[in-house]
Amino acid sequence: MNYTYLDCLASFGVGGAHPGGLKLTKRILSREYINQETSILDVGCGTGQTSAYIAEKYRCSVTSLDSNNTMLMKAKQRFLSLKLPINSVYGSAENLPFPDGLFDFILSESVTSFTDVPLALREFTRVLKPKGVLLAIEMVLEDLPSKEEVKRTLDFYGVSQFFTESQWHNLFKMAGFKQIGVEKFKQFDEDENENDLDSASDFLLSETIDDRLLDIFEKHEYLTKIYRDKLGYCIFRCS
Ligand SMILES: C[S@@+](CC[C@H](N)C(=O)[O-])C[C@H]1O[C@@H](n2cnc3c(N)ncnc32)[C@H](O)[C@@H]1O
Repeated sequence: MNYTYLDCLASFGVGGAHPGGLKLTKRILSREYINQETSILDVGCGTGQTSAYIAEKYRCSVTSLDSNNTMLMKAKQRFLSLKLPINSVYGSAENLPFPDGLFDFILSESVTSFTDVPLALREFTRVLKPKGVLLAIEMVLEDLPSKEEVKRTLDFYGVSQFFTESQWHNLFKMAGFKQIGVEKFKQFDEDENENDLDSASDFLLSETIDDRLLDIFEKHEYLTKIYRDKLGYCIFRCS
């Protein structure tokens, strides 16, 4: 079996598998007006760390969707053990199993990059309310690596294309978003992370883990290091 990067995240059950982790999530959400009436879709929820945080903090309606069964099962276990009334749904971002205009917010934390982006973004605009907001933390091509480097990295992450900030901007516009705010993600200060529970690792390990998955983890660490100036992240706020 050929494992992918996402298989690796699922087997290790990595929570907060996006740059900045839960700490950045909290910061982004704290700027929004969210109350008990708000409905939020955590698309590509992974093991559900963000969904659980939102449900506990805001007591609002949370729906968590993922196309990976292992991830979704781990998210469900988390919600069950915390007794959180979160609607967990198996499905794909490109074909969301929801009616039009259902959500006030969609959170995509390092997810849309892995999808068929134009299709997923059109689905997001469809299921958002007219004044709904998409909050997305996504990979952005900063500098032009060589063709070989691009291919190697695309293959590793299993994504079809990397986009620059302006390409993302156009994709959001084409999907029907009118206002697009962009913020570059900057790694938090090392000192800021010390003794910080939000930055602590959150793993929900599968019972058996193939050694090849460890190799994938190491390769991800290696690629992150060598491409740190070429592949960055942005936080997009689209409405
Ligand atoms: C990098 S992980 C991020 C998980 C989670 N958002 C987090 O921050 O911890 C990407 C997640 O997106 C999910 N995913 C990838 N493609 C998807 C798709 N087309 N539809 C739904 N989920 C998808 C994966 O299964 C995985 O759980």
